[in-house]
Amino acid sequence: MEVLIVPDAAAAGARGARIIAALLRDTPAAVLGLATGETQRPLYVELVRRVHAHELRLAAATTFNLDEFVGVAADHPGSFRRAMRQQLFELVDVDPTRVHFPAAASVDEVPEVCARYEAAIEAAGGIDLQLLGIGEDGHIGFNEPTSSLSSRTRLKTLTQRTIDGARAVFSPGEPPRHVVTMGIATILSARRCLLLATGARKARAVAAMVEGPLTAMVPASALQLHARATVIVDEAAAAQLALAAYYRDVERCKPAWQRRADGDDEQAAAVPSALPAPSEP
Ligand code: F6R
Repeated sequence: MEVLIVPDAAAAGARGARIIAALLRDTPAAVLGLATGETQRPLYVELVRRVHAHELRLAAATTFNLDEFVGVAADHPGSFRRAMRQQLFELVDVDPTRVHFPAAASVDEVPEVCARYEAAIEAAGGIDLQLLGIGEDGHIGFNEPTSSLSSRTRLKTLTQRTIDGARAVFSPGEPPRHVVTMGIATILSARRCLLLATGARKARAVAAMVEGPLTAMVPASALQLHARATVIVDEAAAAQLALAAYYRDVERCKPAWQRRADGDDEQAAAVPSALPAPSEP
């Protein structure tokens, strides 16, 4: 697992957006797996900035979001479809016909919705890059602790802790008890996983995911099985990593071809073009 330690949440978002921009530079019709949540906000702000600065196009991209509450209308303040529209889709050149959510109007619809979602991901050629956040209990998507590590898109019943966390956006009503989420095996099928974690609240889960045992009690630890998983953490979320110095060394020693693939050459490339052309000898 590659661990990139950056100063703060804004830097984590900028770094994640740079990786996505580099993917879209090389593969404009890339298939992106997207996540909602507070952690991703700075990343989406940066993607929007890049699109408006004509540095990035999303027009040919296809997106699949990780999860959605069951029985929640698309325009409900708690729905992930609304959050994604507000933070990204309405602000960029994404083609709405290429945007996908595992949205079910009722639990009865869930099996059909899940089967169709998995089929749609496959028909799109699989996910090139899956963006993820992590819960304080180590969940990814809505795969709560004890989720099967070989699960595919399916119904999950939320823990009381997750329900309480969602209470504010559903008030005065009750948050739904059910969601549809990509499974852990669905997430691991992506060609690359990119997880962002920021803030001290996430430090314990981050250490368990990266350095702890592989266990369904920490669903994010399944990323240890992925051949290309990148974790971007800010200093606060990195605080409990025993091998932080090693992760910084690995990053310092990255060869040029690895840097280019992640857009790390961007700044170096931008500087010379901003300078006046060299004068003729
Ligand atoms: C959201 C999702 C969740 C969040 C996680 C972190 O689509 O699948 O796993 O990524 O709960 O949420 P924040 O970023 O709000 O701390």
